[in-house]
Amino acid sequence: MILTVTMNPSIDMSYQLDNFTIDNVNRTSKVLKTAGGKGINVTRVLYQLNEPVLATGIIGGYLGEYLANQMNEQFIPNNFYKSTQETRNCIAILHQGKQTEILEAGPTFSTEEELGFINHYKTLIKDVSVITISGSLPQGLDNDFYTKLIKIAKEYEVPVLLDTSGKALLHSLKNSHAKPFLIKPNQHEISDLLQKPVATNFHELKQDLENPIFEGIEWIVVSLGADGAFVKHNNLYYKADIPTINVINPVGSGDSTVAGLAAGLNQQLSDEEIIAYAMTTGILNTMEEQTGFINREKFDEYYQKIVVTRYE
Ligand SMILES: Nc1ncnc2c1ncn2[C@@H]1O[C@H](COP(=O)(O)OP(=O)(O)OP(=O)(O)O)[C@@H](O)[C@H]1O
Ligand SMILES: [Mg+2]
Repeated sequence: MILTVTMNPSIDMSYQLDNFTIDNVNRTSKVLKTAGGKGINVTRVLYQLNEPVLATGIIGGYLGEYLANQMNEQFIPNNFYKSTQETRNCIAILHQGKQTEILEAGPTFSTEEELGFINHYKTLIKDVSVITISGSLPQGLDNDFYTKLIKIAKEYEVPVLLDTSGKALLHSLKNSHAKPFLIKPNQHEISDLLQKPVATNFHELKQDLENPIFEGIEWIVVSLGADGAFVKHNNLYYKADIPTINVINPVGSGDSTVAGLAAGLNQQLSDEEIIAYAMTTGILNTMEEQTGFINREKFDEYYQKIVVTRYE
């Protein structure tokens, strides 16, 4: 079973408006309220792929209950640690082809809540074969928090796929005792890590991935949006060419890619198959309006179109 961890989930509210006027009343009946957060997207796609999955993280209050209820209604297995603090809302206003977002920071967790979650996580990990950790850390949890989760996973010999950014990612790479099994930075995240603009030129990218900061990480999947991906697995390098797609909404494609990677690893597929699997799930997400959502029926058609080749 794959365990997905979302520490800062949200109820995502999307309001569609014909016109958005600042400093005025804007009315709409086009409202969507969905369970959100990068790890929730990963969970949804894994569920759509028919992979055994369980979602965890911290939820609380009325919105936390709403989130769990929505997942239950969709038959998506979940077992969150409950806090007394209210889960956050994130608001997206879609207007004139633009998207204006308001993201709440969310609750600030105490040391007791941190320990409470860690104990909860330990009870779940026993039946788990792969873990994904996605998104930013909530307030109150230090940058070493994901490293703590990875360390526990190591004790149970469970590989961790970490998809985060900034200081939380940097911390987990610098800790020599508990490195993630796989990371999936996009071009912006890898540039941030290396503190320089990273090109999509594969020759340079290969050299960049030889940076000591990546030592001890088995898989590095640099996702490049419409340009596919460049991948390092131990000492082997791969490039993935993908077809041109009629994109509807690319948000959450990285999360969908992480779901594909977790599924491929869980099924113990070959390197090439794992990469093609993840590119397919990423692409399928871009073809849907909903974030972190794929149409499984199109999987085989697009999987055939991915070309994964070794890069020397
Ligand atoms: N415009 C696109 N056309 C075709 N495929 C795409 C496009 N954008 C993304 N993808 C697919 O999804 C994968 C992941 O996309 P991307 O590199 O944009 O991730 P990301 O920046 O982490 O996204 P997010 O964080 O919003 O989920 C790509 O490797 C590719 O397979
Ligand atoms: Mg991403």
